[in-house]
Amino acid sequence: MAEQTFPQFATDALHAGQEPEQWNSRAVIPIISLATTFKQYEPGVPFSGFEYGRSGNPTRKCLQDCLAKLENANHCFVFSSGLGATTTVLHTLKAGDHIVSIDDVYGGTNRYFNKVLSKFGVDLTFCDMTKPENLKSCLKPNTKLVWIETPTNPLLKIADIKALSEVAHQQQGVHVIVDNTFASPYFQRPLDLGADMVLHSISKYINGHTDVIMGAVMTSNEALAEQIGFLQNSIGTVPSPFDCYMVNRGVKTLHLRMREHQKNALAVAKALEKNPRVTKVLHPGLESHPQHELAKSQMKGFSGMITFYIKGGVKEATKFLQSVKIFCLAESLGGYESLCEHPAIMTHASVPAEHREALGISDSLIRLSVGIEDLDDLLNDIEQALAAAVQM
Ligand SMILES: Cc1ncc(COP(=O)(O)O)c(C=O)c1O
Repeated sequence: MAEQTFPQFATDALHAGQEPEQWNSRAVIPIISLATTFKQYEPGVPFSGFEYGRSGNPTRKCLQDCLAKLENANHCFVFSSGLGATTTVLHTLKAGDHIVSIDDVYGGTNRYFNKVLSKFGVDLTFCDMTKPENLKSCLKPNTKLVWIETPTNPLLKIADIKALSEVAHQQQGVHVIVDNTFASPYFQRPLDLGADMVLHSISKYINGHTDVIMGAVMTSNEALAEQIGFLQNSIGTVPSPFDCYMVNRGVKTLHLRMREHQKNALAVAKALEKNPRVTKVLHPGLESHPQHELAKSQMKGFSGMITFYIKGGVKEATKFLQSVKIFCLAESLGGYESLCEHPAIMTHASVPAEHREALGISDSLIRLSVGIEDLDDLLNDIEQALAAAVQM
């Protein structure tokens, strides 16, 4: 795919929300403002726009303004984790409401839907959203939210954001949210395609250095922004000023990292496809991916995630994961370093076994987060680990 980018992406990542004039010292990089409270000269009239550290913080504001711009949104709210962002959005619902969620959703989101939200009387339907017409039959009169994740974790299914948003919006009062964690705003902008909200686990690509847990919600819908801002303060799932500083620093290289992630991942995916020790490779950049054309049309790149089925079962998968030397066996994704994991045993263990089986999250499935190391070293590592794991 020819390199395409959203206009001014890098400039915004570096400069949006970063104006030195916002600091008395004219500091060129943001101040880590640790104050939990801010002096007022008249009761109830905040001098600087900030009153209490949970409701607002200068370092957090600086990050939120930058991230909003990257998703082409009017508003961004950051949270103490991606799941903190999820739970806060779901507090916009009430007992008796209904959500339609894409079937292959991050394991932690699935667990929250099934084991927590269900206790509060919110009804849920999982839907195979690879065909937008499937959504129509899943909508109910009380549906309030359509939850899309694309590409999905871990099967890298692609959902047509524009078509699904059109179906959802035919019914009044239904909002669409897209978990854009796997693509990052560098490769995909769901709001431009018709979604109402975007969600990120910032712990992944946006921060990119595997040292901060954080989440975000972006929107240009003023009523939703008011609700989410209210809930951010009322629920209190806010990140620390130090973490906001770290992410603000990490995001400055998002564009550079994503280009390398995508280049390395596509090459690794192609090598895996040719390897006889692998039965199937899933990566949206491969022509063999069932929604390759859709991925090309709604994304500006394919990101750095790959899943593949190793020949054999849990024994071979385990041996592969124990034999890699550069890839590190660990949960998570999107950092500069290459990681690998076993979704059925690790990240998606909380998805009920029958749901996993129906989706194809089997014992031979391995997920790779391809990092930005030298490509030859990654290719050699995969090859030697496959040779160690599968006897031919
Ligand atoms: C797609 C996706 N969404 C949300 C989350 C939750 O984010 P966090 O771990 O920051 O709470 C994850 C975590 O792995 C994820 O992969």
